[in-house]
Amino acid sequence: MTSPTGTAEPTPSSPRTALEALRGEIGKAVVGQDAAVTGLVVALLCKGHVLLEGVPGVAKTLLVKTLATALELDTKRVQFTPDLMPSDITGSLVYDTRTAEFSFQAGPVFTNLLLADEINRTPPKTQASLLEAMEERQVSVDGTPRPLPEPFLVAATQNPVEYEGTYPLPEAQLDRFLLKLTLPLPSREQEIDVLNRHAAGFDPRDLGAAGVRTVAGPGELAAAREEVAKVTVSPEISGYVVDLCRATRTSPSLALGVSPRGAKALLSTARAWAWLSGRAFVVPDDVKALALPTLRHRVRLRPESEMEGISADTVISGLLAHVPVPR
Ligand SMILES: Nc1ncnc2c1ncn2[C@@H]1O[C@H](COP(=O)(O)OP(=O)(O)O)[C@@H](O)[C@H]1O
Ligand SMILES: [Mg+2]
Repeated sequence: MTSPTGTAEPTPSSPRTALEALRGEIGKAVVGQDAAVTGLVVALLCKGHVLLEGVPGVAKTLLVKTLATALELDTKRVQFTPDLMPSDITGSLVYDTRTAEFSFQAGPVFTNLLLADEINRTPPKTQASLLEAMEERQVSVDGTPRPLPEPFLVAATQNPVEYEGTYPLPEAQLDRFLLKLTLPLPSREQEIDVLNRHAAGFDPRDLGAAGVRTVAGPGELAAAREEVAKVTVSPEISGYVVDLCRATRTSPSLALGVSPRGAKALLSTARAWAWLSGRAFVVPDDVKALALPTLRHRVRLRPESEMEGISADTVISGLLAHVPVPR
């Protein structure tokens, strides 16, 4: 950045600049998928977990790995397989013959950013141990609670549930994820871009070589969260969030609407988005922008709607078009 007098000044490293840079770094490896990238940043700001859904090969794993590289945080990856045990995630007590005592061997959940890859390939018991740790932010193995590090974010990937040999996540626990981000197939242009990058030598296993640098760490994240906490919410905006959530409860297409926990989540994601957009107050468009990823996994369709091919997104989009917006 150059000052009016022409002398070069160091770029001001405000928390927002750092988080914007994060998006830039991810873009060095991942083509498109902007909504998912934004969602991950929002989740970091809101201390929430994310579920990434998409067919195989749309860069779910690459996206989280790149985020991990661009953040100065401890990260671990667990590939969820059919034979994975709860203790493979949480850790377990091991007997030390030297001291003749049991000691706790921490599992991979003791990290800042956990990539839980293909979470729906593992049976419910193992899923439950992760979901519990996500909610409680601690692990109890022998009755002793052990707190997880801070920050702690789980990015879980899953294939769309119709895939064979998968265990759908229990519906009642889906709302432990702040956001459900869906990764679409790339456009023709984007797909050509992916191929060109590979032809030019891009290697998804060597993100450093692709120029992905560390641009933010725990300090920036904490500062950013403090700023987000100062974003103001007018009574009209709270009313709008509640009206949207109430509308899901009476929608004829839905068997189950959004809970007050979901309403709380929408307000917090909208606040983070307002801050990322450079505002100190929330506007209705912030709420609209985050409504789909925040609410889509918190509603249940009626079987009839499902058979007609209606999706949660269709229903929520319809409500966004009808619920009166405060001015
Ligand atoms: N949008 C994209 N941008 C960059 N590379 C991509 C993209 N989509 C797919 N790829 C390429 O395809 C590979 C497969 O992606 P991966 O992250 O393993 O997918 P998933 O986890 O969704 O199955 C990536 O490593 C990358 O080389
Ligand atoms: Mg993958």
